[in-house]
Amino acid sequence: MSKTKIGTAIEFAKNLFTTGALFETTRKTELEICSKLSREPNKVFVEYGIGHGNITLQILESIAPSSKLYAFEVNEEFCTYVAEHINDDRLEIVNDGAENLSKYVKEEVSGFVSSIPFTFFSKEKRAQILKGTYDKLEKGGAYSQVLYSKFHFKLFEKIFDKSELKKVSRIPLEYVYHCEKN
Ligand SMILES: C[S@@+](CC[C@H](N)C(=O)[O-])C[C@H]1O[C@@H](n2cnc3c(N)ncnc32)[C@H](O)[C@@H]1O
Repeated sequence: MSKTKIGTAIEFAKNLFTTGALFETTRKTELEICSKLSREPNKVFVEYGIGHGNITLQILESIAPSSKLYAFEVNEEFCTYVAEHINDDRLEIVNDGAENLSKYVKEEVSGFVSSIPFTFFSKEKRAQILKGTYDKLEKGGAYSQVLYSKFHFKLFEKIFDKSELKKVSRIPLEYVYHCEKN
């Protein structure tokens, strides 16, 4: 494991209750979770749960130079780390939770990428985040979420018009839920 990955694992462990994970998402999952993002110009995207910014980098790589990315993160230290390590005018870091999306994002969103720890949230908070997300998503837009189990898939199916579950990695076990709005 690289020095950076070890540093991230230590930070994740220190904040286990809010990170919900010990390690960064695998490279395979970083690529899969960004696979639905549009490269069309002038689009708006949102990330939930940036950690040390590994998926953030892949989102910025996937979207057009004229698009914008709002990245939500509750941990202030992670926000500072990413602000210091990713220098990109398209990125706006929001030090707040996904549940407060509509306070900061006024535009329609073309795509969401999320690695927030759903399992650690109350039933109400899960539903609130997903409903708020669905309302902001443009028609034909996608929401992609990494999770460590199939357990929450029914809730996603209930809220989105189309949902698909992909097992991306076996060790560690990672599923990507791809959801769409018609
Ligand atoms: C499993 S880590 C994922 C980090 C990184 N994106 C990755 O894939 O490795 C989950 C991240 O979500 C953040 N988080 C937890 N609750 C959140 C919320 N309600 N809104 C936004 N971020 C949240 C945590 O602080 C943590 O950085």
